[in-house]
Amino acid sequence: MKTTRLHDKILIFMMIAGIALSLFFFIKGDGAKHQDHHIKGKNEKMEHTKYSGVDIITNTDDEETYRSAIHYPKFQGERLNREIGQYVKSTEQKFHEELGKGDQTFLKKRPAVFYLTFDIYPVMDHIYSIVFHEESYYGGANGNQRVKVFIVDVENDQFINQTEMIQNTEQAKEKLYHLLLNAFKQSKQYGPFLFEEELENKMKQDGAYANMYLTNQSFVFIFDKYEVTAGAAGTPEISLSYDQVKNILTEKWADRLSIIPDKPEDLTVPNGDRGNESPSNPPAEKPSSPPSKRVALTFDDGPHPQNTLKILNLLKKYEAKATFFMLGSRVDFYPDIAKKIAEEGNELGNHTWDHKDLTTLNSAEIRKEIRDTNEMIKKTTGREPTVFRPPYGAINDQVKRMVGMPVVLWTVDTLDWQSHDPHAMLQIVKKNVKDGSIILMHDIHESTAEAVEPVLKYLKDEGYTFVTVSELEQH
Ligand code: NI
Repeated sequence: MKTTRLHDKILIFMMIAGIALSLFFFIKGDGAKHQDHHIKGKNEKMEHTKYSGVDIITNTDDEETYRSAIHYPKFQGERLNREIGQYVKSTEQKFHEELGKGDQTFLKKRPAVFYLTFDIYPVMDHIYSIVFHEESYYGGANGNQRVKVFIVDVENDQFINQTEMIQNTEQAKEKLYHLLLNAFKQSKQYGPFLFEEELENKMKQDGAYANMYLTNQSFVFIFDKYEVTAGAAGTPEISLSYDQVKNILTEKWADRLSIIPDKPEDLTVPNGDRGNESPSNPPAEKPSSPPSKRVALTFDDGPHPQNTLKILNLLKKYEAKATFFMLGSRVDFYPDIAKKIAEEGNELGNHTWDHKDLTTLNSAEIRKEIRDTNEMIKKTTGREPTVFRPPYGAINDQVKRMVGMPVVLWTVDTLDWQSHDPHAMLQIVKKNVKDGSIILMHDIHESTAEAVEPVLKYLKDEGYTFVTVSELEQH
């Protein structure tokens, strides 16, 4: 594939135009002081750009109560021009509606301002991302900033819908959310202002990709002011490289962008539930890594002063790692046990403060359950919990939105809390376990502690490797 080496922003041109325009306003503003010979009215001009098939239209309007400067691209194709024209018109209308509601006397003293500019990014031959930035100010206060993205194919006079670029699966969405979350967290500029649950919520919505654009090396997500961050972050832009998104692109777009995704069997598939591989893709040989089955043991409701210790010793003996979903209140009671769980390399999970059914709580209560537990685990072990499991597996959209960490349920329930029978537990495991299973147990029961050794031994003999739930998800 041929890509343009660097994206060139038309913004530079805009800045020059902007300076010229401000100067123009400035001079006229000064003139207005003297008398009423204010030159009013609309102005339009068109310029060519170095991008073939793309011109720029600039409209300026200077009136008593407002000033506006609008820049937009003009293409050869009718369809592109019509839709872009409609968008430009509708933003302008919105501005005028707001303006109509304002105090006209005040606006004559401090005219409102409306700017519409755009950046252009070549993606590949004939394909560009057009990113509009709207800004409006009324009476010097209350600015509005908005972003609108169009991806255009100038040769075929077509818009390209971003949804055709990303695979339409829950896994792809989840993966994308985590990529963005990590990128936000690593950003000094935006990270401190992020609302994780807003981001998660946003990425699940239908229009989640509407403000996504491509350059010739990355996918960029723009968020409106206040959308997923506090206002201080402005309008965040998060870039993900082609390499980062390669496994969640549709085949068509991976192909168009000449990106080679990992082989299907390397993709992250939760719960070991492997999808059907397409027949056209014969399984590739992986001579370096022998086939290995993996299983994640998980222990809930602890820590417990005796039983958790017994289990930790057994895990050590079998060189196994597990995941402990702890209650904040019990970590508070048994800090030394929690510390030992962490020190021995097990994964730390949040199981709420006191085992309430979160679907029955209001949002402030949910938040408190999760936050207090995270803080207690962090304070006690020095490590942040990385996963969350809701008590009773009870979860709804609201809880999911508020958790802000991966939610992990289970695929094999040993029913240990019911049977208190180590033999019955082993039978359940034998019958149900498969590659990728997540096994649920409770480290507060003595009978469970007794069952752990036979379970470990059985699984080891069957060729399973013991991993934490996050390792299982990572592949
Ligand atoms: Ni529980």
